[in-house]
Amino acid sequence: MGSPGALKMRITYSPNRLTLNDAIRPQSMTTHTPEKWFATPIWRINIEDVDVVNETIFAAMASLPEDEGGINRSNVGGWHSGTQLYKAPGFETIRQRISTTAVECAQSLDFNFDTHALVLKEMWLNRNGPGAYNKAHIHPGSFLSGVYYVTVPEGAGAIEFTDPITARTMAGYPMAKANAFAVRSIRVNPKPGLMVFFPSWLQHSVSPNTGEEERISISFNIGYRPRGKAQLADDQANKGSALGSKFE
Ligand SMILES: [Fe+2]
Repeated sequence: MGSPGALKMRITYSPNRLTLNDAIRPQSMTTHTPEKWFATPIWRINIEDVDVVNETIFAAMASLPEDEGGINRSNVGGWHSGTQLYKAPGFETIRQRISTTAVECAQSLDFNFDTHALVLKEMWLNRNGPGAYNKAHIHPGSFLSGVYYVTVPEGAGAIEFTDPITARTMAGYPMAKANAFAVRSIRVNPKPGLMVFFPSWLQHSVSPNTGEEERISISFNIGYRPRGKAQLADDQANKGSALGSKFE
């Protein structure tokens, strides 16, 4: 405990203490563009011919065995098909769109297609009725993951991605507007025909469907594998084909 005089001395000898009057305000409009390292890509791609693609999906859904049992992953409520849906008849169109888009996304990351090819590892159907949602999760063991929205009724939940740089929690600051350097989460509102791609390690969740109708989507996991010599020879022969041989 000190005397009032001692307290006064402490304030006087704190030259690094900022007061309201010392607060720094911008003096010019000059900004310096920062380099963007440790970036997290998220792609929002609107698929062409949505009605045509979705028609094939509805037809394929109708031909799925009625006793096809659902499985539980991150979903709470709703129906989640088995993960080998890419083998099911009728899903060729959406499978091809997913493959093409995966190649385009990987190309934008400078993926080395000379040494490796992409592989569609898993694909499954989600039917999320009222109240259904997905807990926060990642997709272990894959490279890119994504979702294609078939039907999105009023009130269907959004997908939310969480900032993977957890240390940034300690460095928050007041932002004039949201930007890629400091947001804690990103919400993507679904709409029919939207395909969202993201790194499989990126944590995400889906908010509950507050509507009265079912939201239908198709999710997928993309991996990769090294090319063998035989595959390389085959690649040369297939040069210029739709996907080349970037996807196996
Ligand atoms: Fe997911």
